Amino acid sequence: MNLSHQTHEYFLKEALVLAEERKGFCSPNPSVGAILLREDGSTIKGMHWQAGDPHAEVMVLSQLSPEETAGAVLYVTLEPCAHTGKTPPCTDLLIKHKLSAVYYGLKDPNPLVCGKGQAKLREAGMICEHIPCAQIDAFYQSYIWWTKHRRPWITAKLALSLDGKIAGANGVPQQITGEALNIYTHQARMKSDAILTTAKTIIRDDPQLNARLGNQIYAKPLYVIDPRLDIQISAKIFKTGAQCCIFHLKSASSDKKDAFIAQGVHCVAVPEKDDRLSLQYIVDYLGKEAGVHELWVEAGGACFQGLLLEQLVQRILIYIAPKTLGFQALSAFSVTDNLFKNISIITWQQFGQDVLCEMLYQE
Ligand SMILES: NC(=O)c1ccc[n+]([C@@H]2O[C@H](COP(=O)([O-])OP(=O)(O)OC[C@H]3O[C@@H](n4cnc5c(N)ncnc54)[C@H](OP(=O)(O)O)[C@@H]3O)[C@@H](O)[C@H]2O)c1
Repeated sequence: MNLSHQTHEYFLKEALVLAEERKGFCSPNPSVGAILLREDGSTIKGMHWQAGDPHAEVMVLSQLSPEETAGAVLYVTLEPCAHTGKTPPCTDLLIKHKLSAVYYGLKDPNPLVCGKGQAKLREAGMICEHIPCAQIDAFYQSYIWWTKHRRPWITAKLALSLDGKIAGANGVPQQITGEALNIYTHQARMKSDAILTTAKTIIRDDPQLNARLGNQIYAKPLYVIDPRLDIQISAKIFKTGAQCCIFHLKSASSDKKDAFIAQGVHCVAVPEKDDRLSLQYIVDYLGKEAGVHELWVEAGGACFQGLLLEQLVQRILIYIAPKTLGFQALSAFSVTDNLFKNISIITWQQFGQDVLCEMLYQE
């Protein structure tokens, strides 16, 4: 088939739409979309559904025999793998299916794959080309980060009143921002691989921390910083989370720990740093042990401040509502010196009456 560069870009962006559908549900694998374009112009679509399931290329090709795919062109958001992981190499299947060409959007940053998939397909006489695409690069930002650092790409969000408060007097929960930012939060939770929160937030707010969009509810893996295992065993998150894990001090009560474990909660003892849990250890654990690429942090000011001061955050989201909560309400920060330093990009966006300030750090 004689196809133009515009055709390649068009079908790669269509494959990206498929990958976007499963973002937040595939880690420790990346989310991938693929489209097969056959000689008669018909297309077959597929996507990687979740870790352990067949890759997007397999989801497409398993719908047809090699005779039915001979000469077809495959568009896939990520370079096909040439190694055996949980599933066999995709390159073998592409060769077996006698495709004429493969065009992909991202060179896999994983050294096990990078360039090897392309080389194997070319050796078999197939055209295989990387088509650079800014949207695909942006889509894989957290996967690229995680592959390089083995730590999640972290977004920390905090909602503030105009007088810098995050909750009412004594931490009594307050709805600070309106519906438009509420929907934004639920979308962001859905597209993240996991959510990190704290015992203080669970005890005060008893949130569900799932993504509720229209009639759909998406449960997410939840991680809670709870040094002394204080959270109530009846907290809603134990029913609404896809799975729950608590980070605690080694000295925390073993009876309470046993009760959580009996309920299916994973408990991880964390070393101390300056008399508090080591946030660095927690972030390393989330990347290396839990395979989280993209983490959404939704907690109070102490956690937010701690992560920022240790430079563990890649993106800050501050929601600001045009209201004041008063002198006795809970302040966001106990320190402000050096809190927002070295930020590279700042953008502002209006959501109803509220504004969203997005701040990005760059390597
Ligand atoms: N406006 C918003 O966006 C928003 C979002 C969520 C919650 N909230 C509100 O926030 C309030 C809680 O906020 P908060 O600032 O009091 O608490 P927080 O940030 O939610 O949680 C702090 C907890 O994290 C623990 N922690 C352990 N190691 C830490 C470390 N290295 N650095 C920082 N924290 C560490 C603290 O332990 P220690 O006990 O040992 O200090 C403490 O238990 C609630 O009232 C909730 O309603 C507001």
